[in-house]
Amino acid sequence: MNYEQAKKILKEHGQEHLLDYYGELDAPKKKMLLDDVSKINFSVIDCIGKEQEKKEIKNVAPVSAKSLEEIQANRAEYEAEGLRLLRSGKVGAVLLAGGQGTRLGYDKPKGTFNIGVTRELTIFEQLIDNIKNVTDAVGAYFHLFIMTSVVNNDETVAFFKSKNYFSYPKEKIHFYIQDTEPVLGTDRKILLSEKHRVAFSPNGNGGWYSSLVNSGLNKILEKEGIEWLNIFSVDNVLQRICDPVFIGATSLTRNFCGAKVVKKTCPEERVGVLCMRDGKPDVVEYYELPEYMANGRNDSGELIYPYGVTLNYLFNVHVLNAVIAWKLPYHLAKKAVEHIENGEKVTPAVPNAYKFETLVVDMVRFMCTCLGFEVDRKKEFAPVKNKTGVDSVDTARELLRLNGVEL
Ligand code: UTP
Repeated sequence: MNYEQAKKILKEHGQEHLLDYYGELDAPKKKMLLDDVSKINFSVIDCIGKEQEKKEIKNVAPVSAKSLEEIQANRAEYEAEGLRLLRSGKVGAVLLAGGQGTRLGYDKPKGTFNIGVTRELTIFEQLIDNIKNVTDAVGAYFHLFIMTSVVNNDETVAFFKSKNYFSYPKEKIHFYIQDTEPVLGTDRKILLSEKHRVAFSPNGNGGWYSSLVNSGLNKILEKEGIEWLNIFSVDNVLQRICDPVFIGATSLTRNFCGAKVVKKTCPEERVGVLCMRDGKPDVVEYYELPEYMANGRNDSGELIYPYGVTLNYLFNVHVLNAVIAWKLPYHLAKKAVEHIENGEKVTPAVPNAYKFETLVVDMVRFMCTCLGFEVDRKKEFAPVKNKTGVDSVDTARELLRLNGVEL
């Protein structure tokens, strides 16, 4: 893109201010700025103002998930099918490690956080240990894709290298950087992070598959014949990854997607709830739950919508490819973002800008079918979200100890 083209397109979208400092820049910086402009997705601008629109939750019904008892009754059959798929190389895993981990208040990649007490045990190491439990049973390693962000990629890659990939075969680990969206001031003007750089920020965990495709790593999926991807969050240190029983259950019940769920501890628990909506599986985030979904109980006093998602999903790759053109809704996060104003770098004390994120929970309905698969939260759900209190380092340590992990 040249200067004239950039000027034209920016004018069309009311964003000419991005070229305010162009005249001051040397040739390489001019090029960087024009490259950035060519990557802007201007459609996000129209989302501003719509963030207040309350999403009406209607036409919902409870989902019939596989309970712990049902899974136990069919365990051998599910496990055999899962092991068969894993041994034939049809399953890969995707670690979502592009988040900022703001609540933990740790400014390095979250996976490098040490949850050990008497020894070093980083979150990444614990997750790889969980994977190795499965690869030991399978007798083979599977491909592990690790999604990072522009903010934490270099540090994450260097960390894995420095730890010799925790003895996982290096050629089976593939890093990729998630895509970004421009950052918009509340006045609908895109921000500059430097005089020659447009401010971009990671596009949320819903970008995991499109970013994988844009990075070219889908070639590995095609070449290796990978048909299923188990995606999982960086923070649940107890989760079983590429769990053969989960994979087998999803495949044998002919679902295109599977979601590991836990029974909620209380109506207010901060987890998205798996349900049916307009006849399709869907997840309603905890902050959007209407009262009847959060608190509704049946005659036995049990929650009607009891299943919370744990951010451990299995997706069928063929179906993902078929719906790759989907338009996931943007969720707007209002944040204080450092930027250039009147030629100076400004660090605002209050939120001044919007970041645009898509969420993996919004992908579930595109898959049309989804198996809710209950897991025992004491054995499989220990998210490290906060420093202390609920879903914190303390609670995760306690659960790890209960499961025999030496800290
Ligand atoms: P969270 O919603 O917990 O966000 O991410 P976070 O950024 O890690 O933490 P907070 O909210 O700032 O405290 C759930 C999972 O999605 C990944 C995270 O790394 C985590 O595994 N994620 C989140 C991404 O990969 N990319 C994103 O843009 C956001």
